[in-house]
Amino acid sequence: MRDKNKQGKDAGDLPDKDPVVKHYTPVSQSRRDFLQGTGATVVATAAVTALGIPRASAQQAAAGNAPRTAISLTVNGTRHSVEVEDRWTLVELLRDELDLTGTKIGCNRSECGACTVLMDGEPVYSCSQLAVWAYGKSVQTVEGLARNGQLSPVQQAFVENNGAQCGFARQAN
Ligand code: FES
Repeated sequence: MRDKNKQGKDAGDLPDKDPVVKHYTPVSQSRRDFLQGTGATVVATAAVTALGIPRASAQQAAAGNAPRTAISLTVNGTRHSVEVEDRWTLVELLRDELDLTGTKIGCNRSECGACTVLMDGEPVYSCSQLAVWAYGKSVQTVEGLARNGQLSPVQQAFVENNGAQCGFARQAN
């Protein structure tokens, strides 16, 4: 989780001030946060000239002050209002903010399908969708297949066959 305090707030509850400010505190920063911050610095620096990203935006992102947008979406029938960094992908929002880790990251570049979710009923690679694009959309993840606390046949088959990621590799064995 990046910040549990931001979860589940209505858009009207979001702070009036610029919520971008993120202070480094050694106690609260996880290894993942550190690595993501380090990676963002490298990527942002490299992308400035290659992609024409304004230098100020790249520096903002590198400093952990990336632009954020408040969005609302429905995931597995539950409405969420969350604040996302504009650079986050949908799979990052699902896994890191909403704790829906059933959606996996395999290739992270639209090749394997492990991150597939349904968006308004259509399958999409959530690694290749920006989280902000999900504004107003309905998303279904594998967790959303369960009914009344009972696993769906697909979920049950993954459990029984020790399926991982997309499950196709296991099926081939
Ligand atoms: Fe492979 Fe998204 S993680 S397509």
